[in-house]
Amino acid sequence: MQKLAIQGGARLNGEVRVSGAKNAALPIMCASLLSADDLRLGNLPDMHDVATMKKLLQQMGVRIDSAAQGAIFNAAQVDRLEAPYDMVKTMRAAILVLGPLLSRFGEARVSLPGGCAIGSRPVDLHIKGLQAMGADIHIEHGYIHAQAKRLKGARILFELVSVTGTENLMMAAVLADGVTVLENAAREPEVVDLALCLIAMGAKIDGAGTDTITIVGVDRLHGADYCVMPDRIESGTFLVAAAATGGNITLTDARADILDSVLDKLREAGAKIVVSGDRISLDMQRRPAAVNVRTAPYPAFPTDMQAQFMAMNSVAEGSSMVVETIFENRFMHVQELRRLGALIEVEGNAAVIKGSAHLEGATVMATDLRASACLVIAGLVAQGETVVDRIYHLDRGYEHIEAKLSALGAQIRRIR
Ligand code: EPZ
Repeated sequence: MQKLAIQGGARLNGEVRVSGAKNAALPIMCASLLSADDLRLGNLPDMHDVATMKKLLQQMGVRIDSAAQGAIFNAAQVDRLEAPYDMVKTMRAAILVLGPLLSRFGEARVSLPGGCAIGSRPVDLHIKGLQAMGADIHIEHGYIHAQAKRLKGARILFELVSVTGTENLMMAAVLADGVTVLENAAREPEVVDLALCLIAMGAKIDGAGTDTITIVGVDRLHGADYCVMPDRIESGTFLVAAAATGGNITLTDARADILDSVLDKLREAGAKIVVSGDRISLDMQRRPAAVNVRTAPYPAFPTDMQAQFMAMNSVAEGSSMVVETIFENRFMHVQELRRLGALIEVEGNAAVIKGSAHLEGATVMATDLRASACLVIAGLVAQGETVVDRIYHLDRGYEHIEAKLSALGAQIRRIR
């Protein structure tokens, strides 16, 4: 188990480049299954989940030539229509091969993703949508067995907003016979990024980014060149770390237009934020003011930023309330923050945080990706040394995080 040792107290300062977005890269890599031509992807982040997705696609027969920060995917010789349990159990996003496999090959066997630390995370809406498109699906021995001669366009109303649900059905619909309308679709920027990549491959998609997406099925897709969008959650994570430490940083290769809800909250906490082109600067001259946060689907405040704000609120001036409405168990970081001296009470899906002047370093354990980021931020502000254990969670979704933080002046090192 690798750990991160952090000496608290440094104010983050300097410039950091934002990497490609994990939650756009993963579905876009699966889109390579939809054509027999080369899909050349740029700005792929170098992180564990991307490596796992590459392995999953390669074991299906997708050829991948990786170069720096990018790769060429070719699915002309796919001969295994399966996502095995040992790969799905470590990365839920593997479910995103289901739609493309069904759409292009008419068959798929995908292991049911187990739950995970933050909740049960079912995939019933993915399955219901595919059945509405004519897929014959049954679940046996923990696997989803799906078959369809050719998927048919359908009108699908999501009873819950689901990001990967929307992405899976969009990929299923691009080669289906007829028109598919996804209603109550997810509006996340990563859904838009996938749609733009599919359109570059010849798909006919309207409405991505709104709650109604219309897809007109075509016979085949061709190859394309596509550059993955910057990661808005990595961006938010670094901005919160700078705000919590009273620092002054600039993000480059960033996009502010997809971060409104996060930037608004940081301004409310007292940060001075200046946006110019693809650069976002944050200057926090004072101790942050506590801010209330309530997560909800995009464009509202993202659940993936909830834990990071709780770390900042732990050392902010005043009390705050954090309400998590997306996942049923996304407060695993609370008991770890308490070990650092944070004053947090949890009541159902609401946490009340009483900001304290300082936290004390301690050994804490990461439980999921964004909880890990929260603990790193807390370690940056705690007095003394904080050791964050089980940081494989962190490595799944952040590219070279300790190198980037060290370049901003953090005292952080990996213990192997
Ligand atoms: C995506 O997960 C992201 N992952 C998550 O990011 C993110 O937290 C989440 O969207 C919400 O924004 C990827 O994009 C790879 P959902 P996803 O389907 O699609 C329920 C990170 O840290 N639901 O939008 O799995 C579900 O239980 C990760 O990068 C069903 O009930 O989330 C949840 O309560 C963590 N049935 C809610 O909907 C379904 O079939 C939203 O889930 C699907 C979802």
